[in-house]
Amino acid sequence: MTEGKVDFTGVKWGSVEWTMLCTLYLRAYESRSNHSILGDHAAAEAMDRIDYDFDRMKSLRPSSNQFLVALRAKQLDVWATDFLARHPDAIVLHLGCGLDSRAFRLDLPAGVDWFDVDVPTVVELRRQVYSEHDRYQMIGSSVTDPEWLDRIPADRPVLVVAEGLLPYLTENEVRQLLQRLTDRFPTGELMFDGIPPWGAKVMKIFRWGIRDGHQLEQWNPRLRFLEKASIFSHFAEIPARGIRAVYRLTNAIPACRNFSRMYRFGF
Ligand SMILES: C[S@@+](CC[C@H](N)C(=O)[O-])C[C@H]1O[C@@H](n2cnc3c(N)ncnc32)[C@H](O)[C@@H]1O
Repeated sequence: MTEGKVDFTGVKWGSVEWTMLCTLYLRAYESRSNHSILGDHAAAEAMDRIDYDFDRMKSLRPSSNQFLVALRAKQLDVWATDFLARHPDAIVLHLGCGLDSRAFRLDLPAGVDWFDVDVPTVVELRRQVYSEHDRYQMIGSSVTDPEWLDRIPADRPVLVVAEGLLPYLTENEVRQLLQRLTDRFPTGELMFDGIPPWGAKVMKIFRWGIRDGHQLEQWNPRLRFLEKASIFSHFAEIPARGIRAVYRLTNAIPACRNFSRMYRFGF
């Protein structure tokens, strides 16, 4: 971790590094509410340390979009906490971590070893904001590179969390990644968010969309589909009445409700 302000002014608008600043900004924004859903104060602290023109991010309409990232992250936090309570000696692989502070936000059992993984340029920036310790390490590698997994102990249950990552990969890359994970670990859970295939076609930034949970079981017989949840299904947690009404309406329209969903698998 670097002392003082960390210079992110070189991060280009629309770049991969920029996407992680967007989600950090929205989580930090949401944490400042008196009725915060996620309570990600580490995000707010990280943002305060970063030198970047965050004023430009007001175009992301944080007053309503803060809840998209907060509800998504909260669902994954709830599932992760449930898994770690049953496996207090687990290995956690947090893929495409960006600047997310999940490792510091969750109350981790003492026996958990946590690995945050993202591409080398992002991990280089991340190292300036967060510090490693005995049970927390960062790995700068593409998740599509098979080598990084060799560094991870494989004799314990694994929790794999991939938030805001898999839609950026191709179908082939997702299939190979899932295969490598289930080949390496005896047991675990995998949780991620996904969009439908038509969404990946319409939004050029994305490359892979998931049809339904059973699609992955067909790809990889070791994966058992456990559950899924739409971001919008948790609209009742939104404290702002007007925005809650918009999310409720969105949740009532199947194409909207099913656009962004979180999935959970066991193996
Ligand atoms: C939308 S951001 C999400 C970051 C973080 N999970 C969050 O929710 O704030 C997408 C992240 O995926 C990472 N990413 C994209 N492709 C990747 C790859 N092939 N390997 C590792 N990370 C990747 C990006 O660098 C970026 O940090």
